[in-house]
Amino acid sequence: MHWTIPLTEPSLGAEEVDAVVRVLQRGWLTTGPVTEEFETAFARKMRVKHAIAVSNCTAALHLAHLLCGVSAGDEVICPDLSFVASAAAGRYNGATIRLAGVVSQDDLTISPKAIESLLTHRTKAIVVMHYAGFPCRMEEILAIARRNGLRVIEDCAHAPFAWTRIGHQAEFAGAIGDVGCFSFFGNKNMTTGEGGMLTTNDDDMARRARLLRSHGMTVPSFDRHKGHASGYDVVEVGYNYRLDEIRSAIGLCQLAKIDQLNEGRRQVSAWYREALQGLEEIQVPFLDRPLEQSSCHLMPVLVHGSYPEIKQQLANSGVQVSQHYQPISSFTAFGSGAAHSPFGPWCLLSLPLSPQMSREQVRYVTDCLREVLAQKQLV
Ligand SMILES: Cc1ncc(COP(=O)(O)O)c(C=O)c1O
Repeated sequence: MHWTIPLTEPSLGAEEVDAVVRVLQRGWLTTGPVTEEFETAFARKMRVKHAIAVSNCTAALHLAHLLCGVSAGDEVICPDLSFVASAAAGRYNGATIRLAGVVSQDDLTISPKAIESLLTHRTKAIVVMHYAGFPCRMEEILAIARRNGLRVIEDCAHAPFAWTRIGHQAEFAGAIGDVGCFSFFGNKNMTTGEGGMLTTNDDDMARRARLLRSHGMTVPSFDRHKGHASGYDVVEVGYNYRLDEIRSAIGLCQLAKIDQLNEGRRQVSAWYREALQGLEEIQVPFLDRPLEQSSCHLMPVLVHGSYPEIKQQLANSGVQVSQHYQPISSFTAFGSGAAHSPFGPWCLLSLPLSPQMSREQVRYVTDCLREVLAQKQLV
C-alpha cells in the first residue's frame, strides 16, 4: 500500500551509503574497530562510562537482567504499556513478571504508585520504558529502588538523548538506572536496521556484558585476526549478541545526526500540539512536559472510539497510524490473553511522526482525524 503520510520513515543519506561502502572495501565485517568507535562515541555523547554495542535492544535487555542478577524465582516489575520485549527479557531468566500500569492518561509512563503496590520480598528489579521519548518519573522510581534494594533497568528504545533532572543534574535516559538498553531498529530515532546498545557506569557490569555478548570468550575475534592473541578461554556461557561493522558504520552516521533528527521530531510534535488544541474528542498526553527533554519518538493521542475503525478510516485517506501498545497483560503468554483497553472508551493512537515531516503534512493528518471524528458524531 502506498501511504500519503506513512507512520514513520528512516532518515538515511549519502553518508550512510559511503560509510557502508568503506567497511565493505576494508573487508573486516564483524565486530571490530568501527564498532569500537561507535561505542566510544555513544558513551561520550551519553556521558556514561561504558557503551556496549549489541545485535538489538532485546539482547541488551536480556543481558541487563543477567547483569542485575535476575534469576528463577525472582520477580521483575515491568510497564504493562510497552513492547513485549520489555517483559520477555526477564522471562528468559526464569523471573515472574509483574505488570504495572501508567501514571495517568496524561502521562503514559510506568506509575511509581503501581510499582510500590507490586513489590514483594521476591522483587529483584524494575524495568522502566521511557514511553514515546518522555522520561519516566525517575527520581521517585530510584527512591523506591533504593529503599528496597532493587536494580533499575531502563528500556530506552524510544529515548535516545531524552533527558530529565535528577536533583539539580540533567541526565540522559539510559544513564540513570543500573543499565540502559537502546534499539536501533528500522523505525527508531536512530537506526542501523537492526541493532542495539547497552550503557552502564558499572565497570564490572560492562566487562561481563562484553563477555556475554560474544559467547563468554575472553578474546574478541578481531584481536585474534590482528595476531594480538592466538587462543581464548570461555569463562561463562554466553551468546552471539554482537553488532557488526556495517551496522556500526551506519550507527556512527546516525549518531552524528541524532540531535538534528530529535529536533525535527520536536518541531513536528509542537505542530501537532498546536493543531490538536481545543478538540474535545482528542486527548494529547504529556502536554505538561517540555518537548526539549523528550526524544519525541511517537506522537500518541487518545481518541474516543474503536481503534480498528479509526485506523481504517484514516488509511482510506492515506494516513498510516498504529497503536503503541496493546497492553502486555492482554497477551496469552503474559496475562489473560483477552484484549482490554486500559483507557476505557478512549483508544490509544500513534500519529505519523518523522523528523522530515512538514507543517502541511501535520495539518493534513489532523484534518483527516477531525473529519473521522466529525463523521462518527453524525452516525
Ligand atoms: C519499547 C521497546 N523495547 C524494546 C524493543 C526491542 O527492540 P529491538 O527490536 O531492537 O530488539 C522495542 C522495539 O520495537 C521497543 O519499542
